[in-house]
Amino acid sequence: MNTRDTLKINEKGHLEIGGADCVELAKHFGTPLYVFDEAYIRRMMRTYQDTIDEEYDRNGLVLYASKAFSCEAIYAIAKQEGIGVDVVSGGELYTAMRAGFPAEKITMHGNNKLPREIAYAMECGVGTIVIDEYSEADLLDAEAAKRGVVQNVLIRVNPGVEAHTHAYVQTATPDSKFGFSIGSGAAAAITKYVLGKKHLRLKGYHCHIGSQIFEKQSFVLAVEKDLAFMADVKKSLGFEAEVLNMGGGFGIWYTDEDEKIDAEGYRGYLRALLSAVKSGCAAHGLKLPFVNIEPGRSVVGEAGITLYTVGAIKDIPGIRKYLAVDGGMFDNPRFALYQSKYTAVLANRADEKPAEIVAIAGKCCESGDLIGTEFNLPKANLGDIVAVLSTGAYNYSMASNYNRNFIPAAVLVKDGKAEYIVKPQTYEDLVRNDVIPDRLR
Ligand code: LLP
Repeated sequence: MNTRDTLKINEKGHLEIGGADCVELAKHFGTPLYVFDEAYIRRMMRTYQDTIDEEYDRNGLVLYASKAFSCEAIYAIAKQEGIGVDVVSGGELYTAMRAGFPAEKITMHGNNKLPREIAYAMECGVGTIVIDEYSEADLLDAEAAKRGVVQNVLIRVNPGVEAHTHAYVQTATPDSKFGFSIGSGAAAAITKYVLGKKHLRLKGYHCHIGSQIFEKQSFVLAVEKDLAFMADVKKSLGFEAEVLNMGGGFGIWYTDEDEKIDAEGYRGYLRALLSAVKSGCAAHGLKLPFVNIEPGRSVVGEAGITLYTVGAIKDIPGIRKYLAVDGGMFDNPRFALYQSKYTAVLANRADEKPAEIVAIAGKCCESGDLIGTEFNLPKANLGDIVAVLSTGAYNYSMASNYNRNFIPAAVLVKDGKAEYIVKPQTYEDLVRNDVIPDRLR
């Protein structure tokens, strides 16, 4: 089990998160329920920013990648911690603005930002927009001209680094819908194009090589390729980048097949990256750029768990035993999408030894609706509370109302006390936007 301060087993044999008893949480708030430990989230945000401040002379800003978990409270926490955020849609931006997040500390991404999203970003005064296509540069320039402003932009480049992770979350390979390839010359060509735009101020470059990556070397290699490119552009176009945004991607613990990295370990990842920036700049005669990183998963992933209640048990002798819970792919589609593995615990009997391997199935009408197939648990009974660990990232944010199930509520725990940060849905919420045209009545 995850050994960080977040989770422990109390004297009743119950799982605790952030000092709150999971059995009590399930009783009070119902299941399924997302639960987040505030201290973990703050610790990670602070660790990253402190590392930049200490190792890189305060010359950088952490941007929490809010696609990992977006709701108003998370932007409120990031604001209090003094870091920035990245957003990838009008919806994430709207949520951040509603939470009172300072627009100048927001960076906006997207490989196909809609004209209305671009207009909205400028209306909000978003600090930086990352260009991912020529047509977007045109749109941005026109929108900025209309408003009589000059917009700070970065260009997303693809350094062509292959990191070991699931193919769908790998982004910097040659075949990618993201960014401009450095190797092919596309990145240099768009640089020239953007430099010609009157209402855009090109600050530098962004890259993101993928997610759930454990090799420091992949990040170092990406830095080296980016800096070599920046040196080329300085020579050929006379443009010296002031900003280098290295994206996110640090891996987290899901099962014991993954490394367990504590705050100090993540500091080590960032230190390796920053030291590659320093040595690369020295080697190429570049001035040190302002650095951004965009961690998402590693900030919220291990901070979160999901609580479920076992409602049915199906034992198919010699084949498999299924525990069916009251959630499923509608609150966690990651097994269905990526065959992602998780660790589960019976929260009401967390001190008992595992006795059997079971699959945890959801309640959706399809066979692929599984949280996973290989959970090592004590023999479960109906009514037991299952806690699936490390669900804080890309669960709520990828949840759906499939089968018209409710997207679970989320609570935030601080010093043993839990409060809603996302309220439960109601049947009314599900039909809120439904319309029956008159001719069907
Ligand atoms: N910056 C950019 C431009 C990104 O595209 C991403 C993630 C991040 C930062 C944050 O990366 P992180 O630190 O969270 O690894 N739905 C998938 C993950 C997709 C990640 C997409 N981009 C999953 O559930 O594993």
